[in-house]
Amino acid sequence: MSITLALIGFIVTHGAIVLSRPTVFKQITMLEESNSTLLRYPTQFTQNIVPKQIHSHNDYWRDVPLLTALSFGVASVEADVWFINDTLFVGHELAALTPARTFDSLYVQPLLAILALQNPINAFTANQTSPNGVFDTSSGTPLQLLVDMKTDGDSTLPPVLAALQPLRRLNYLTTFINNTLITSAITVVGTGNTPLQGIKSLSPRDVFFDAPLASLNSDPSTVYNSTLSPIASTDYGVAIGWDGIGDISETQAGEVERLVADAHARGIKARFWDTPGWPVQARHAVWEVLAEKGADWLNADDLEAASRF
Ligand SMILES: *[C@@H]1O[C@H](CO)[C@@H](O)[C@H](O)[C@H]1NC(C)=O
Ligand SMILES: *[C@@H]1O[C@H](CO)[C@@H](O)[C@H](O)[C@H]1NC(C)=O
Ligand SMILES: *[C@@H]1O[C@H](CO)[C@@H](O)[C@H](O)[C@H]1NC(C)=O
Ligand SMILES: *[C@@H]1O[C@H](CO)[C@@H](O)[C@H](O)[C@H]1NC(C)=O
Ligand SMILES: *[C@@H]1O[C@H](CO)[C@@H](O)[C@H](O)[C@H]1NC(C)=O
Repeated sequence: MSITLALIGFIVTHGAIVLSRPTVFKQITMLEESNSTLLRYPTQFTQNIVPKQIHSHNDYWRDVPLLTALSFGVASVEADVWFINDTLFVGHELAALTPARTFDSLYVQPLLAILALQNPINAFTANQTSPNGVFDTSSGTPLQLLVDMKTDGDSTLPPVLAALQPLRRLNYLTTFINNTLITSAITVVGTGNTPLQGIKSLSPRDVFFDAPLASLNSDPSTVYNSTLSPIASTDYGVAIGWDGIGDISETQAGEVERLVADAHARGIKARFWDTPGWPVQARHAVWEVLAEKGADWLNADDLEAASRF
């Protein structure tokens, strides 16, 4: 019996009589084993993965950079880049660099491939104007790509902008243009040595600036808002310091609230990095307080633990 017939037969039978669960399971198994086209759709690469507001700290440490994070639904990844010999290498320190591990090979090319799968070109998509993001369950959720510039900012920004060209060309980058913020599949944010002036003067702007969460007001010549900084970050240990054991003090809790409120008032999402990693109970206690007080991104080294949190 052909599979289409099996499926139709199943539906008809299903409508006519109450099937027993074993019979239904048998039908499901048959269909699954058949490799039926009825069970396949084009944008299956991230099927069933629900995106989460988790930031994959030092993403290139994972078994497979980018893909491991995506498999957990992590919606923000961070790559440290070094501009050496006209090439952007990715790694935490010089000793971790290899000729093969570049920003292009680990991030740009895989993203192009994934987004090509999520954006099939056919009669059904002919009129679609904004591209789908990497998450099949939530195609409007952008992936945030934090680019932590490790080498001099002014000389590293131009090659980063150039490396993004294949993504830019296909309108995959969130862009601030003509006074309008157009959200797309990937929001690139510079951090580390990223030069603030260099980002401010981009027009159109498709690389944004990771704002200093603890000092958003300190520089009168810079207005941090969502058109410059979709995210603001600070070192949790320095800004708050509670180790997750015992109770957080009122002053510390108040400081989390104040920083989050300041960011939110500007349309900016807040992230605390360097939160305690261990003991696990302390890690979770800190995550819980941050989430409860409105911090938007959960900074994580252990993606599996964070995705279950
Ligand atoms: C399922 O069918 C597709 C398309 O016909 C084919 O490319 C693929 O190899 C098949 N997979 C299996 C496991 O038979
Ligand atoms: C950079 O280029 C120089 C000259 O070609 C070469 O000697 C050196 O090994 C290169 N360094 C790296 C890290 O590739
Ligand atoms: C796309 O737009 C054209 C022209 O308006 C229309 O004829 C066609 O049905 C649309 N296709 C889809 C899939 O909506
Ligand atoms: C921005 O404005 C220019 C000049 O008015 C116009 O040509 C261009 O299409 C606009 N771009 C977008 C994305 O709105
Ligand atoms: C963001 O700040 C700039 C000044 O740097 C200002 O021109 C712009 O209107 C602000 N936009 C929003 C949405 O607050």
